[in-house]
Amino acid sequence: MKKAVVCGGSQGIGKAIADSLGQIGYGVTATSRKELDTSDLESIENFVQKNNNDNNKEGEEGIDILVLNTGGPPPKEFHEITDQEWLKYHNQLFLGFCKLIKEIKVKDNGYIFVISSGVIKEPTNPKLIMSSAYRAAFAEVFKILSKDYFASRNISCINIAPGPTDTQRMHQLVGDEKKLEQIRESLPMKRFGTPKEIGDFVRGIVENKIKYLSGVVINFDGASSNSVF
Ligand SMILES: NC(=O)c1ccc[n+]([C@@H]2O[C@H](COP(=O)([O-])OP(=O)(O)OC[C@H]3O[C@@H](n4cnc5c(N)ncnc54)[C@H](OP(=O)(O)O)[C@@H]3O)[C@@H](O)[C@H]2O)c1
Repeated sequence: MKKAVVCGGSQGIGKAIADSLGQIGYGVTATSRKELDTSDLESIENFVQKNNNDNNKEGEEGIDILVLNTGGPPPKEFHEITDQEWLKYHNQLFLGFCKLIKEIKVKDNGYIFVISSGVIKEPTNPKLIMSSAYRAAFAEVFKILSKDYFASRNISCINIAPGPTDTQRMHQLVGDEKKLEQIRESLPMKRFGTPKEIGDFVRGIVENKIKYLSGVVINFDGASSNSVF
């Protein structure tokens, strides 16, 4: 059975991707913070060791799909962010992903997806400054690896940058229903995206064996962003 690891796969976008891959026959390990906390380097090491041991026992050299996803930081004004918070989200959104991509072996002809955010191209919300900073930094790493390490092994690397998507994260960020409705009305499609649409996209790429789409950032935002490229 082909295998996928979906980090942050217990809720929202990650869960939708895990469900979609399960529907096409993948054995999916979908983690919550309990199994893998990307802000905690020890948790990452434990998870990697367990994953690699399980693969060794089954005689597998690695997994077929890795989805790097995690929770987003709380919205905060720059002057209110503590050093500890910068360090935590540095680990959660940047170093944790670097360690996972380095230490979890993805087989030749596999896929790596990253769930980032539209803020990497358009850092328009000052309160999401930690998200913008560290996700943009990881996008650079991912781009370099896609070309110089993964392309020769036919591993496709796709960075999905969601716009407003109807998940718990969105409800936590916005708060009450009235504000949510105002945001919906302000969006080009007058609605949020659904996690399932992202799950279906990932499934479509994998199911149809699309490989040449790699080293890209996909704006998954219902035409919300303003940039052309
Ligand atoms: N929804 C949006 O509109 C939107 C837009 C742009 C970008 N994004 C980003 O896309 C990603 C997924 O968003 P979502 O809306 O699906 O979020 P969500 O509904 O809050 O789900 C987050 C997932 O990540 C896990 N998680 C949380 N903190 C973690 C940590 N420290 N280490 C590992 N896993 C952790 C959660 O596990 P638990 O079950 O343990 O909580 C859950 O499975 C987030 O990074 C978010 O910031 C979302």
